[in-house]
Amino acid sequence: MTTPNPTANTGAATQTGSAAQPATATQAHAATQASPTAQAHTATQADAASQPSAAPQTVATTAVIPAGQEAAQTTEPAGGRLGIGIGWRAELDLSIARMPGVDWVEVVAENLHAPHLPESLLALRRERAMPVLPHAVSLSLGGAEPLDTARVEHLAELGRALDAPLVSDHVCFVRAGGLDSGHLMPLPRTREALDVLVANVRLAQSIVDVPFALENIAALLEWPENELSEEQFLTELTERTGCLLIIDVANLYANARNVGTDPAAFLDGIPWERLAYVHMAGGVERDGVYHDTHAHPVLPQVLDLLAELRRRTDPPGVLLERDDDYPTDTELAAELAALRATVEL
Ligand SMILES: [Fe+2]
Repeated sequence: MTTPNPTANTGAATQTGSAAQPATATQAHAATQASPTAQAHTATQADAASQPSAAPQTVATTAVIPAGQEAAQTTEPAGGRLGIGIGWRAELDLSIARMPGVDWVEVVAENLHAPHLPESLLALRRERAMPVLPHAVSLSLGGAEPLDTARVEHLAELGRALDAPLVSDHVCFVRAGGLDSGHLMPLPRTREALDVLVANVRLAQSIVDVPFALENIAALLEWPENELSEEQFLTELTERTGCLLIIDVANLYANARNVGTDPAAFLDGIPWERLAYVHMAGGVERDGVYHDTHAHPVLPQVLDLLAELRRRTDPPGVLLERDDDYPTDTELAAELAALRATVEL
């Protein structure tokens, strides 16, 4: 997995953070460009100047729920009851095919093309009726530049080809000014940035045929302009767009370790009726910094946070993300069993 690049973080920290004018050449750290999979969750590093978000504020909102996005407010989740899943990677395809205890898979949308889907993936749909959910990493929904609708069309086409119950990306931006960050970059949690994100999510929702979900990321830094806590930002996003949420518990742990997020406040503030599913992943702490590597076992502390989440809601699905240093089937199956034991109390 990619080693964090302090230069990249320092460069990003010089950005103004204004959603109306983000991205300038200060993001010229594109040299850290990774593969789409690696981009999704590279190692995290705290910005020494960062501080936790500002004090909570009262949020006045106007609910504008697009047609077809209301299902999560009923007893049946919009994405359905998924169970325990794992991120499908080409390196794991045989393991997933023969491993018990896998109810569904998620695929990185940018790694696949609808007309040429891998036979081993199609077999999971055909022979085991396994849900396959596309997860994008490149839409840059929080970016200030016009949304690249071709990328959304790609995601929509993949969703149709896989008969997916929902599609997703992250609360972040990944490019600006013709440059790619190589990381999922955190947004300044300002009202201006939220307006931009809401507009882009609404446009994406108008292109895809199924509910859209957004995931919290592991932040490389916190913007000094933050006006809302992360849970407030996510709550208002769901209220204004009707989108669903993917809550990555490992990212929550990373943010707690690296930028001072309060996990209990986060878990207390999330609108759980909008939860599509949960991500879990492994990482490692080095020199006081937690790295969300997806190449190590899930830490007991992250499992504890999943248990905390479970006290607040019954998640429709929990998915293990593993992107490198793939373990044996036995080890993977044990990790999946631990997830199942934590949520099926
Ligand atoms: Fe994730």
